[in-house]
Amino acid sequence: MQVLEKEIIEKEAPKGTKRFFLETYGCAMNFSDSEIVASILKSEGYTITSEASEADVILMNTCAIRENAEQRARQRLTEFRVFKKEKPSLVIGVLGCMAERMKTKLLEEEDLVDIVVGPDAYRSIPNLIGEVEGGQKAINVLLSREETYADINPVRLSENGITAFISITRGCDNMCTFCVVPFTRGRERSRDPHTIVKEAKNLFDNGYREVTLLGQNVDSYLWYGGGLKKDFEKATEEQKNKAVNFANLLEMVAQVSPLLRVRFSTSNPQDMTDEVLHTMAKYENICKYVHLPMQSGNTRVLKQMNRGYDREKYLDRIKAIKTIMPDCGLSTDIISGFCTETEEEHKETLSLMDEVQFDYAYMFKYNERPGTLAAKKYTDDIPEDIKSRRLQEIVDLHRKHAGESNLRDIGGVFEVLAEGSSKKSSEDLYGRTTHNKVVVFPKEHYKPGDYVKVKVHSCTSGTLLGQAVK
Ligand code: 5AD
Ligand code: SF4
Repeated sequence: MQVLEKEIIEKEAPKGTKRFFLETYGCAMNFSDSEIVASILKSEGYTITSEASEADVILMNTCAIRENAEQRARQRLTEFRVFKKEKPSLVIGVLGCMAERMKTKLLEEEDLVDIVVGPDAYRSIPNLIGEVEGGQKAINVLLSREETYADINPVRLSENGITAFISITRGCDNMCTFCVVPFTRGRERSRDPHTIVKEAKNLFDNGYREVTLLGQNVDSYLWYGGGLKKDFEKATEEQKNKAVNFANLLEMVAQVSPLLRVRFSTSNPQDMTDEVLHTMAKYENICKYVHLPMQSGNTRVLKQMNRGYDREKYLDRIKAIKTIMPDCGLSTDIISGFCTETEEEHKETLSLMDEVQFDYAYMFKYNERPGTLAAKKYTDDIPEDIKSRRLQEIVDLHRKHAGESNLRDIGGVFEVLAEGSSKKSSEDLYGRTTHNKVVVFPKEHYKPGDYVKVKVHSCTSGTLLGQAVK
């Protein structure tokens, strides 16, 4: 799952109603969850404010994937202390993965926090706020086997009005040993495909031109009328015959309109089927871009991570992508210095990167998380300086590959979906290619939501620069 920058909601609130301020950390899934939370609160009569200082309720949707994500959230909490002093009735809530991981401990350690809500309990937020107003601290961290928030029409918080996230599965059954997500987000369940298509149609009718289908492991999406992924074997024959897998779902969403781009994240090497790749190839509006986390290039380390694939299988999937879609953007996640990783094994990560040549990569030092299988079974034995040095080698190599990839694009013409004005100049628009590369070009008569053919003439380290062509 790609980790986004912190998002702060910027919407104006009318005076006189209860106002909430919501800040989101972590991945796209969390950002999508915040849209669900905003919808739940709005339906209870709350309005959104972009000023924490004027809020009646401050909510932070948190991430637990690495320790520094939690530290940042705690640091931010201290900044809210002044508001609580000024307005003792202010309710402060911590939502999301950190809430789920720490549970009541968060209430004990952070006296400022009034409510703690896990990812499957967002419907209870209005009641929990009520309990706090009644003088109590309140918590709901129950994980659910069914909750997918399928019926909730999320309030769109993204600024551009062109691209949106749609959550298609919740939870994760993979049990990678380094990862806290199975514990914070519970068992994997898929959302009713008809509610997904309805949401996509609705977005399209409201001017959106790109949806990203989100899940911890989208390839294992499976709808057979409800229930957990792991219980599919127990489904009736009729349910099995009508089941919708990820390739089917992709096709259903792609058919909403040829003008609606479809992306998805995150894919998993052991579950990514050729059927999905053929569906991608079949529809021009399904973006030719796959985010396929490798984590490590060494089979023993991958086994220790319980990733469910080895180096060969990973390369097999890359080969399938390149064969079925010769022109497909690729990105990945990599962890340096996992427990017991040797120098030779680290070099295999570098050599796998060399073989694949990713266009983009999210790179991390291994960070032991309490409660994970790795924390229980292995010793976090790679010294910090070695982890850092290995990470730097990974980052340097990736920069080289990404730079080369951008240079290859110079002179090419790409269809770009314009998303908004460039940050640097209001005379320029920015948008993305099907390969998820950001392109900046002079606005001329174009506007956000337009598909523009752009010829790339140069690039910076992270952005392609070009000019619209007829
Ligand atoms: N330490 C470092 N990186 C991690 N990730 C997940 N858990 C950890 C951890 N304990 C990374 C993985 C994952 C991405 C979302 O975050 O690379 O794919
Ligand atoms: Fe997203 Fe994982 Fe962070 Fe939870 S822990 S917010 S699922 S990245």
